[in-house]
Order: sequence, then structure tokens, then C-alpha cells
Amino acid sequence: MTARAKITVVGAGNVGASVAQYAVEKELGDVVLVDVVEGIPQGKALDLLEAGPVHGYDSLLTGSNTYDETANSDIVVITAGLARKPGMTRDDLLFKNAEIVGSVVDQVVARSRNAILILVTNPLDAMVQLAWKKSGFPAGRVIGMAGVLDSARFRTFIARELDVSVENVNAFVLGGHGDSMVPLPRYSTVAGIPITDLLPPDRIQALVTRTANGGAEIVNYLKTGSAYYAPAASAVEMVEAILKDKKKILPCAAYLNGQYGVHGLYVGVPVKLGRRGVEQVIEIKLTADEQAAFQRSVGAVRELVEKLKL
Ligand code: NAI
Ligand code: 2OP
Repeated sequence: MTARAKITVVGAGNVGASVAQYAVEKELGDVVLVDVVEGIPQGKALDLLEAGPVHGYDSLLTGSNTYDETANSDIVVITAGLARKPGMTRDDLLFKNAEIVGSVVDQVVARSRNAILILVTNPLDAMVQLAWKKSGFPAGRVIGMAGVLDSARFRTFIARELDVSVENVNAFVLGGHGDSMVPLPRYSTVAGIPITDLLPPDRIQALVTRTANGGAEIVNYLKTGSAYYAPAASAVEMVEAILKDKKKILPCAAYLNGQYGVHGLYVGVPVKLGRRGVEQVIEIKLTADEQAAFQRSVGAVRELVEKLKL
């Protein structure tokens, strides 16, 4: 027993194992890795534990195929699920992953009543809505990871285009995690200067389009899987903001109950993340065009969620 925070990561695949790695490298807490495949979470946890002396972390890692080890977790990151395979429709994936995420949430919340859940499994916005319903938790303790990743991609492309440090670049992406996401150039800045003052509209549009297709761009290279380093880094930024009570403003899938004119739905918006989870939804002013694009994205998310009949 240590005084360190306890982080459970469900799904010890590409994203889950990388979340575990980045979390212990930052010594954010001890990590329990859970997966249905026998040996995989145990093997990856032990391997990462043995990297501790080299990297200089004392975080403990445990792998398991069951949930008892996860009891009293502070944070649970859920990456369990299938990737879309040839011949599988988006709806097939929706229902299969809903089944997986539903059963994971049942097992997790039975043992960690006070945890904060971070969902990663796709389709993200629908999975986080499902997890919230299943958990019975307050909405602020169930959060989806997508906006940090989408804006990290946008930030990368802006930094490369202008040949400046990524540390100087901030970017906002609103809406669902999908084709309809809404990157916001007006709120995307380099050392505080909006990119709309630094780049011509056609270059900005090219970066926006590349961001919206960022997931597919990686899949096209990898062929047998999707991105995992940047997704894991993004989930860990959320874990760190929460465990360190940083009150950090990050774009996350959060429950909207009137904000942005949306009722009863999880969608990507800027939120303040602290020890209580989502501590505030930040409302920013949108132009008519931005609002219309956001509404289209909300519509796409609502359509998926309705299929789940929650
Ligand atoms: P992966 O296939 O490498 O890993 C998924 C893991 O989940 C596998 O190890 C599998 O055995 C495990 N799993 C399946 N059913 C389970 C269950 N019932 N309980 C526990 N574990 C179970 O996939 P990867 O690349 O790690 O992606 C995971 C998910 O995250 C996918 O749905 C992917 O689309 C999504 N994703 C979402 C992103 C986002 O921005 N929200 C970004 C990247 C990935
Ligand atoms: C991504 O954006 C697959 O959702 C994942 O890379």
C-alpha cells in the first residue's frame, strides 16, 4: 500500500499500454492494467515495472484479467474495445464497443465508487455518454478524451507550418470526435497571436482539413491499427490535470446541460479539469458559421447516441 494515486487502465492494447507507460514515466501514480487477453496485461505491466530503475520511477504496475486489483482507483482510463475491421460497419463497431464498455464500467464502478472515468474507446462521444449512464456517477466524473488529441494534431500542423515551437501554439477543436469536428482558427494562437493574423485562409483551411482527417492519416500508414502515442499522451495530460488539481483548461467530451444550447449530451468543449473532474464548462463566443458547424457536429453525435437507446 502506498500513498500514491491509483490509476486503472482498462484495455492493455496500443493506447492502454502507452497510457500506462506515460503515466508511470511522470510518476502520476501506481497503475493497474486490465485486459481480457490472458498474460498481456501481466506481461506489459511487468515489462514497464522493469523499466522503472532505468527511467527512475517508483510507480508500481500490476496486470490483471479481473477487476479486484482495481478497487479504490482514483482514475480509470477505459481504452478497451475493438478497432473497425474490414467488412464491419460503423454501427457494428458502435454496438460491439457499447457492449464492451458497458461491461467494463459495471465492473469498475462496483469497486471504485469515487473514481473519475476517462473514456477513450470509439466512437468516443457515444461511449462516454453510455459510460455516464451506466456508472450512475455525476456527469463531471465521466469525461471523454478526444479534443486534447485533435487539438494536439492541429497544434503540430500549425507549428510545422510556421516553423515555431509547439510550446508557443495553442489550438481549440470543438464538437464530436469524427469527421464533423470543428477546429477553431480564431481561437488558435501562436504566442497569443491568432493564426488568422499569421496565415492566409487557404493555408489555414488545409491545416483544418488535415486535423479533421488526422486519425485516418495515421490508419492509412499503420494499416492494421490506429494512432496510439498521441492519444495516450493526451489521455495522460487529462490524468495529470485531475490528479494534480491543476484546473487546466482542456478540450474534452463533457456533459452539456444547456451550455452552447445543447441539452443532455456529451460533446467536445473546453472544460476546467481538476481533482473533481470537470469543474466548469467554459463557454466561448462562436460566430454564426462556427455555431452552425458545431450544431452539425452535435447532430452527428446525437444520431449515434440515439442508436444506443440509452
Ligand atoms: P487495441 O486493439 O490495441 O487495444 C484494445 C484492447 O482492448 C485489446 O488489448 C483488447 O484485448 C482489449 N479488450 C477488448 N475487450 C475487452 C474487455 N471486455 N475488457 C478489457 N479489455 C478488452 O486498440 P487501441 O489502438 O488501443 O485502441 C483502443 C480504442 O481506443 C479503440 O476503440 C480506438 O478506436 C480508440 N481510440 C480513441 C481515440 C480517441 O481520440 N478517443 C484515439 C485512439 C484510439
Ligand atoms: C484517432 O483519432 C482512431 O480516434 C482515433 O486517431
